[in-house]
Amino acid sequence: MPDANQPSPALFERLRAILGPRGLLTDPADTAPHVQDWRRLYRGRTAAVLRPATTAELAACVAACAAAGAAAGAAIVPQGGNTSMVGGAVPAEDGSELVLSLARLNRVRAIDPIDLTLTIEAGATLKAAQTAAQDAGCLFPLSIGSEGTAQIGGILSTNAGGNNTVRYGNARDLVLGLEVVLPDGRIWNGLRRLRKDNTGYCLRQLFVGAEGTLGIITAAVLRLVPRPRETAVALCAVASPEAALALFHRMQTHDPAAIQAFEYMSGLGLRLVLKHIPGVTLPLAAPAEHYALIELATPRPNAGLRATLEAVLEAALDSGEVLDAAIAESEAQRAAIWKLREEHTEAQKREGASVKNDVSVPVSKVPELIRRATLACAALMPGIRAVPFGHMGDGNIHFNLQQPPGMDPAAFLARDHAIMDTVGDVVRDLDGSFSAEHGIGKLKPYMMPDWRGGAELDLMQRIKQAIDPQGLMNPGKVLP
Ligand code: FAD
Ligand code: MLT
Ligand code: ZN
Repeated sequence: MPDANQPSPALFERLRAILGPRGLLTDPADTAPHVQDWRRLYRGRTAAVLRPATTAELAACVAACAAAGAAAGAAIVPQGGNTSMVGGAVPAEDGSELVLSLARLNRVRAIDPIDLTLTIEAGATLKAAQTAAQDAGCLFPLSIGSEGTAQIGGILSTNAGGNNTVRYGNARDLVLGLEVVLPDGRIWNGLRRLRKDNTGYCLRQLFVGAEGTLGIITAAVLRLVPRPRETAVALCAVASPEAALALFHRMQTHDPAAIQAFEYMSGLGLRLVLKHIPGVTLPLAAPAEHYALIELATPRPNAGLRATLEAVLEAALDSGEVLDAAIAESEAQRAAIWKLREEHTEAQKREGASVKNDVSVPVSKVPELIRRATLACAALMPGIRAVPFGHMGDGNIHFNLQQPPGMDPAAFLARDHAIMDTVGDVVRDLDGSFSAEHGIGKLKPYMMPDWRGGAELDLMQRIKQAIDPQGLMNPGKVLP
């Protein structure tokens, strides 16, 4: 008797015929990396990982699964780089879902520096997209710590944000067209590269941020911008989160168009990076309790960005907002400053168990969020260590909590809902969101009724039902 959770032998035969031996992994040693998430919160099981090499192959697989039906172990979990922070790309524990990896669908299809567009397949990494843009004298401006592994399909499906959202918006602001395989196996070719196209509902934006629950993105037309010719980067020790906000406002008033990134880091966050990451140093005379990282950039040559940055920092030093600052003198120093920021996640992982809160509030409320959530968490669990950091310029703070020293990691993680709800109460009070850029995945569907209930959740459920009536696509994610 075949396991009821597994795809039938007939479906397996069909998938093998479509994909060939390179395209179907069934050996547990080969499927193992595909069933565990980056944070190691979830470990699933799967009978197979499908690895189509073309959109046509992928569509044929989905059609075969649709014909078999979700109940027959044919539900599909689309997987990109598997860097999800919310377990979005792992299959269920009962082995009833197939993983569909986009890794082999990774070609650059076209690039046009006049249209400023890049047409690229979903399995290309974000880094590959950035490199293709750079080779054509352009910039694809989305930048995140996982860019060497995260893929374009994953970036779009999570509507990723990152360091440059303050200037260019989120992934959804950078996509002009999509190619999508629908849950019945049809291919929707919406790979248009138009700046204006008012022709009914904007379908591509439905798939952006859908986390693989409505269909599989196979290719995209991305919006590029002219490459920067001048950049200026500074790491600043600031007096407080309020001072960091005042510095942001000062910069915005001085030259809003130049701000490429404005990030906040706490003293503890930086200490953890210095403790766990080899080869990093603090380029300031003394450590502080709060830091801001500013990057300015412009495509204009000889724009005098360095002088702009110095003028703003001088005024901020005079006012006491900034205690000390280091301006990068070279590309190597710029990279070294960014490393202090980008290694936060890895350093926290090495320090022990942590609970992540990827939250957003209006930019003006960031200091209040940091203060109030720190106090609320300390009241909930003595010894808990708040490590707030992230994209202050767009109001998205990663309010991560590190386990108290010496506490059993499992006992700490068992309190994750209580911790997330404690932070959530403050966020709600400040008119914020419980998921700014990482999405809902498997971790947060339980929060949806409370935060997005009523008409909003009802509409989402109807959209899901209309597009994926069999519930074939990424079951158990996003919607409760
Ligand atoms: P996966 O993890 O493989 O999948 C994510 C979701 O998208 C899943 O639901 C999956 O089913 C779905 N999916 C994947 N590909 C497709 C497709 N082709 N079609 C349909 N659905 C698909 N995120 C940010 O937003 N900002 C950051 O600054 C940031 N920094 C990070 C730093 C580190 C060190 C790490 C590990 C992660 C970070 N992330 C960040 C989170 C993560 O990298 C992003 O969510 C990223 O967009 C996920 O891409 P991926 O290819 O790994 O997707
Ligand atoms: C980042 O911005 O570095 C990630 O999104 C943060 C995280 O680890 O929560
Ligand atoms: Zn982030």
